[in-house]
Parts: sequence; structure tokens; C-alpha cells
Amino acid sequence: MTADHRRAAVLCGIGTWLPPRVVTNDELARQLDTSDEWIRKRTGIRERRVIEPGMSTSVLAVEAGARALKSAGGADVDLVIVATTTPDHPCPSTAPEVASRLGLSGVPAFDLNAVCAGFVYALATAAGHIAAGIAERVLVIGADTFTTVLNPEDRTTAAIFGDGAGAVVLRAGTADEPGALGPFDLGSDGTGADLLIVPAGGSEQRGSGRPLDPADVHFRMDGQPVFRNAVARMSESAGKVLDNAGWRLEDVDRFACHQANARIIGAVARNLRVPEERFLLNVDRVGNTVAASIPLVLGDAAAAGELVPGNRVLVTSFGAGLGWGSTVLTWPELVVE
Ligand code: UT7
Repeated sequence: MTADHRRAAVLCGIGTWLPPRVVTNDELARQLDTSDEWIRKRTGIRERRVIEPGMSTSVLAVEAGARALKSAGGADVDLVIVATTTPDHPCPSTAPEVASRLGLSGVPAFDLNAVCAGFVYALATAAGHIAAGIAERVLVIGADTFTTVLNPEDRTTAAIFGDGAGAVVLRAGTADEPGALGPFDLGSDGTGADLLIVPAGGSEQRGSGRPLDPADVHFRMDGQPVFRNAVARMSESAGKVLDNAGWRLEDVDRFACHQANARIIGAVARNLRVPEERFLLNVDRVGNTVAASIPLVLGDAAAAGELVPGNRVLVTSFGAGLGWGSTVLTWPELVVE
């Protein structure tokens, strides 16, 4: 086989951060009509992290970003992308402020909103910038404080979402190096937009002249069709990205799926006929952290020694939009906290 010297984005740093406050299922059950048993059985989640007053998405993003830069050995990046659906403000985007707080004023920085698929979309965007020669080193952060858009009376969404952030640094390298990302498979289906939605707060509601219904400022989810779509889309996308990469299912050592519900991950494993042990899992401790989900599960697994250099990894995610995305990489030598 000849070496592949095409210019590619190579993973060279990773960092994660969770707000310190832990909310257990029992604590939720004291406020809502739910139980630890229901949540564990239906989702696999035991606890999640939640921000405290004074915190916001940028705070989490800066903490994770700083750790990723340290892991990469320095802050010399020339692009910052923050994947988030819960920016600090509707305008401006959160990334410039995050970049400045990381000592990166002057560096181009923008937000990317693809909800739970946001981190994989941001990786693809960063990889495209690197492949095109627009950037050499990119800080990609996935950060969300989804608990700030939940309806406090909705037991279903309260049970599954949590706050968190994860980040990686990508550098220009070649496609045959460990850590090289790609190919990618990305997709969307806007006919499912209503399945996961915050109805108000955007131009549609503001432009309609309709008075604001307080119930519409919160996130709503139609759980069962979302569950079915998550399983189908991640399974299909995983198959496509493997075909594009020329890998077989048995070549994959670790599957890093979007962490929304352990039952979804189990169903993807059954669909693909892959033992569940090869699927990384941290949803039990963090819940669904939206754009932070993929870097958090990768960072946690690397720190725990469940993901080691040389492992072939398939990353796949799915979320509101609907949107989904997958990629593959061979896990490189990294400094992990
Ligand atoms: O990141 C991508 C976005 N999100 C997802 O991927 C989430 C996808 N969906 C899911 O994970 C699951 O659909 C849920 C975890 C949200 C719900 O689990 P489910 O097994 O699909 O439950 P269900 O919606 O069919 O509800 C079953 C019952 C209902 O009661 P009845 O109608 O049978 O009396 C619900 O009202 O469970 C009830 N229920 C709860 N009970 C206790 C719903 N949420 C709760 C709760 N505690 N937290």
C-alpha cells in the first residue's frame, strides 16, 4: 500500500470540562414526577452536570479550550470554531469572546450550530479549512448549557440533558498519520425540524407579530420518533463512512456515538452487529451534553485508558435539525489529563 500524503487535519490535543454541580436522578425526582429507576432503565443516565448562577456556555468553552491547547503544547492556533446551540447571546456569536479569553484576540472565530451533530460538523469544517490551506491549526470546541433552555416542568427532557464542554486541536498533517480525520459523512433532514425544537426566540416568532407564549421559549422533544431516527441515521452514516474509508466494521476498535441514551447506543450496536463492549459510554455520568457529547466521551475514554494510541475509532452523531455526521480516525499519541 502506498503512503497517503494528502494534506489532512490531524488530532493533536484534547481537553474537557464539566461544571462541578452534580444533579442525581434522585435530586430530579424530588422536583419532578420521575424516579431514579425510570431514568436509569430508559436512558442509562445516573447523573448529569448543571451550571450554577454566573456560568454560561463561554465559561465552559474557555475551560475546555484551555485544556485542549495545553494538551496540544501551545496556543498557536489560527482558527477557533465553537459548536453550540446555547450561545451566551443570540448576537454576537460566542466564539470571538471565547477566543479572546484564551488569549487569541485577532484569530478568526465563529459559532457553528448543528445541535448534537455540531461537533462532527465543526470537525469537518475545520478539516476543510486545513485541507484548503486556509488554516494550519484549529481549536474546535463543543460546548452547551442545554439545561438553560429546558422546561423545568418537563420530566422527559430534564432526565436526559446535562451541561458540559470538550475541545480538540487539529493541525495540518497528512492523511496517513495517526490522528488524521476523515473521510466524513454528513447529512440533514429538515422535515423533522419540529421533533426537537425551541419554537420561539428566533425571527419566525418575532416576525409573526404573535405574542410570545412562555411555553415556546423552552426546548420540546418528541422522544420516540427521535429515538428511531437516531438509531437509523447513526447506523446508516456509520456504514457510509466506513465504505468511504475502506474500513470494515471489524476494523473498528472503538465506536464513539453521540451520548443521548444508552438504549440508542445499544440499538446501534445491534443494528451493526457489533458487541456493545466496543461502544464508548459516559452518558451515565454526563447525560446528553449536545455539542460537547463527542469530545467528552473521547476525552473520558482516553483518560480512562479505554481508548489508546493505534485504536481505530468511528465517531457518529445525530441530533435536532435533523442532522447527523460521522468520521473515522486512528487514535494518536496525545497528552490527556
Ligand atoms: O440528542 C438527540 C436528542 N435526543 C434523543 O436522542 C432522545 C431520544 N429519545 C429518548 O431517548 C427516549 O424517547 C426518552 C428517554 C426521551 C423517553 O423514553 P421512552 O422509552 O421513549 O419513553 P416514552 O416517551 O415512550 O414514555 C413512556 C412513559 C410515558 O408514560 P405513559 O404515557 O406510558 O403513561 C411517559 O409519560 O414514560 C413516561 N415518562 C416518564 N416517566 C418517568 C417520560 N419521561 C419520564 C420520566 N420519568 N422522566
